Amino acid sequence: MKIILSFLILLMITFSVVAQQDPGNYDEAKISPYTLPDPLVFNNGSKVITNKDWEKRRKEIYKLFSEEVYGVIPSWKGEIKMTTVSRKETALDGLATREEVMLHIKNGDKQLNVLLLIYLPHSSKKVPVFLGYNFYGNQTITSEPDITLTPGWVRNNNAYKITEHKATEASRGLFVTMWPVKDIISRGYGVVTLNYGDIDPDDRDDFKNGVHRLYNEKHDSTSWGKISSWAWGLSRVMDYLETNSKIDAGKVAILGHSRLGKTALWAGASDKRFALVISNNSGRVGAALTKRIFGEPLDFMHEAIPFWFCDNFAKYTGKESLLPVDQHELIAMIAPRPVYVASAQEDLWADPKGEFLSCVNASPVYQFLVKEGFPVAAMPPVNHPVFGTIGYHIRTGKHDVTPYDWQCYMNFADFHFKRKSK
Ligand code: GCU
Repeated sequence: MKIILSFLILLMITFSVVAQQDPGNYDEAKISPYTLPDPLVFNNGSKVITNKDWEKRRKEIYKLFSEEVYGVIPSWKGEIKMTTVSRKETALDGLATREEVMLHIKNGDKQLNVLLLIYLPHSSKKVPVFLGYNFYGNQTITSEPDITLTPGWVRNNNAYKITEHKATEASRGLFVTMWPVKDIISRGYGVVTLNYGDIDPDDRDDFKNGVHRLYNEKHDSTSWGKISSWAWGLSRVMDYLETNSKIDAGKVAILGHSRLGKTALWAGASDKRFALVISNNSGRVGAALTKRIFGEPLDFMHEAIPFWFCDNFAKYTGKESLLPVDQHELIAMIAPRPVYVASAQEDLWADPKGEFLSCVNASPVYQFLVKEGFPVAAMPPVNHPVFGTIGYHIRTGKHDVTPYDWQCYMNFADFHFKRKSK
């Protein structure tokens, strides 16, 4: 029953903003020829020759993404305090230690509280972790009944009695299939998660809530949209993880699904402390190329979810060719750190082929920096992951995070983190 409910909720999350969607283009033959910017060529036409050049070029690309796509993430000079809300050493039938930690993120006299749920395998050494947001609160990701209901903003959902954006008992365990915590713990990884609404509500709220309360903002055309807020939030969690003596802060893998996959990529580009980045079905303005017009159209985003981006981004609606960047450069900015992109065969809205092509076109930057980029030029068959410093798979099925996806992520993390330990 829970699994059916979670599937229905997933559909609602996906389609809540898709109600009157422009169906978009689903015909390869109708894609007009497009030119991608070369990440290894500066805006003035000169070429990247040295690693130092790349750092400069990377800044140039980052500025364009900040000012034209996601919005500028403001610098952070505040402080973070924590309180332990609960601790259990025999969680998950004794497999893990579980902690709920409240972060009090303070900027002067302003404060934002966010609640982390942390599962760690028993180990005498520091452990690597997967860090990712959840959609409806920490209580949704596990069937353990004693997790604190998220106090933060959640999407209203009549079927689950969620009104006024407050989580309910009915939402417990709804997303367990998206978070196979026992498997992850058994593989030696910890899990750190939090509700994305704790950082910033996913709403048209004129940027008045969540993290925006911490800053005295004047909203302008380059101000941060919600994806930047959520990326900022992952960095604040990282600030805390660096102080946790049980966690190997040099091996924090971030992952996210869909809008949170877009967020994971942008967070990975924005904060070099994230050792590995995973995009699950992130689609348009995530891993998929924007200039390749297939699947979700920008005019849909402009109508339904403009607040995910900065206001400047609106000017590219229907004028994708004018965008000074494309999403392969978002991946390239994560180089030389490993990045994994996952698509789903039936998730045409997210343009699986466009996600794949971003990996292909980010590869030259990885090759330039570490010799090993993306190992294939043609799309692999379904359920055949490919691993280089960039990894990719397209699996059978729909827009979702499945145990299969997680197996691939853990294999990819093993592949890179073990090499790093040698
Ligand atoms: C909508 C949106 C996508 C997004 C998805 C999600 O479908 O159009 O861009 O990835 O929601 O986050 O679930």
